[in-house]
Amino acid sequence: MSKKLYIKTYGCQMNVYDSERMEDVLRPEGYQITEQPDDADLVILNTCHIREKAAEKVYSDIGRLRPHKDGKTKNGEEMVIAVAGCVGQAEGAEMMRRAPVVDMVIGPQTYHRLPELLKDVKEQRKDKSSARVLDTDFPVEAKFDHLPKVEKAKGPAAFLTVQEGCDKFCAFCVVPYTRGAEYSRPSADIIRDAKRMASEGVVEITLLGQNVSAYHGDDGNGGETTLGTLIRELDKIDGIERLRYTTSHPTEIDDELLTAHRDVESCMPYLHLPIQSGSDKILKAMNRRHTGDEYRSTIGRLREMRPDIALSGDFIVGFPGETDQDFEDTLQLVRDVKYSQAYSFKYSQRPGTPAATDEDQVPEEVKAERLARLQALLTEQQIEFNSTSVGKKMKILLERPGKQEGQLIGRSPYLQAVHVDLSKENIALDETGNKAYNSFMGRMVEVEILEAGPHSLKAVLVAD
Ligand code: SAH
Ligand code: SF4
Ligand code: F3S
Repeated sequence: MSKKLYIKTYGCQMNVYDSERMEDVLRPEGYQITEQPDDADLVILNTCHIREKAAEKVYSDIGRLRPHKDGKTKNGEEMVIAVAGCVGQAEGAEMMRRAPVVDMVIGPQTYHRLPELLKDVKEQRKDKSSARVLDTDFPVEAKFDHLPKVEKAKGPAAFLTVQEGCDKFCAFCVVPYTRGAEYSRPSADIIRDAKRMASEGVVEITLLGQNVSAYHGDDGNGGETTLGTLIRELDKIDGIERLRYTTSHPTEIDDELLTAHRDVESCMPYLHLPIQSGSDKILKAMNRRHTGDEYRSTIGRLREMRPDIALSGDFIVGFPGETDQDFEDTLQLVRDVKYSQAYSFKYSQRPGTPAATDEDQVPEEVKAERLARLQALLTEQQIEFNSTSVGKKMKILLERPGKQEGQLIGRSPYLQAVHVDLSKENIALDETGNKAYNSFMGRMVEVEILEAGPHSLKAVLVAD
């Protein structure tokens, strides 16, 4: 009898990728995904530790699962609750103490061992011992060597992890502690995964890494491949029409990557390039290793290579010591760069990071006020960027059905969501007599943008 697996994913895209890999690891063990935690045999919470709120949510979700553990599942066994990901890594032992219903805690680098660890939990249950397992080992390499090959593609746009971990140690950030040292996968492994994905109908690949621009994988000839070169290699794969990568660090945008944006058609004109603050004093205190002007100059060079490139970023307001003037410098940088879209957060003190013990913390209400002002400016820029798309023709990849009959949703080259109403189009009927909209799924189509909202665009197909 098949067993049911429920996975909840918090945090970044790397966690989304990891959740899919956990599914791959558990499929041969007879587990199938369910959308409901209530009657699952195994629940995995794949957690995020980046800000306090994200981490605390995990404990409330565990509390909500507790009642389901009392009864037996359809297989006659007690539900197994596993915490994976970055909270597991950072707080494993404490979590075991604080949340007795948790059977297993694993870190981001040990989930390839899930089948063995599940056996351990079950063995220990038979012995009526405490039946709990903690596995938060490093390093990263072992995981990639032991994971099954990337299995089923979930849709035409997919993620592929190429690099993991971070050695940058920004003063606010937990990632170097939760994900470990930087590691790049060999280029041959990535190309093999990408070919397999293409053969399953994947059209767009987003290369993932906490620091993907630092990619320096073994090239199989005793040398290293950079991200720019990897993009050129992946571009040659039949069926792969779009390549994206995230997240990059401003100090690592090298010439090979810049010229890939100019020369490689599948390299999409969009870049997520976080700066965090526009103040040089704060950038230094954050240990970001570059100035505001160096960032501006990188953006300038990117725009020389690809004038239409859309830029996104991350910002932290209220980092310790941030004055009104420092914050004004951030607003000025945003005005200078003009983002298509960006993420912004209030600084959150994270245990174990250098900035957490800084005495010059910014009061909560000041952070809230700055965040509101920054977000108002970013929203204005997003609306402005979207409105410049109206009347333009562009190719989009149709990825999923929309809420309305005949509506499909895709992404523009600039990562905007585009809604296309196919119900008015002259589309053939399928064997059941319905219009064959779904045959458009996973296809690249040319559209004309009709309308722009803050979060999405509306478009019609352009006849070939
Ligand atoms: N590797 C990426 C980002 C990883 S974390 C990079 O270097 O840019 C994603 C974002 O979360 C960061 O860019 C930052 O804006 C935000 N973040 C990280 N730590 C934070 C903290 N302690 N408080 C608030 N935001 C934080
Ligand atoms: Fe965190 Fe900085 Fe590394 Fe990004 S570069 S993951 S913000 S330490
Ligand atoms: Fe969160 Fe870990 Fe990603 S802390 S942002 S899930 S790397």
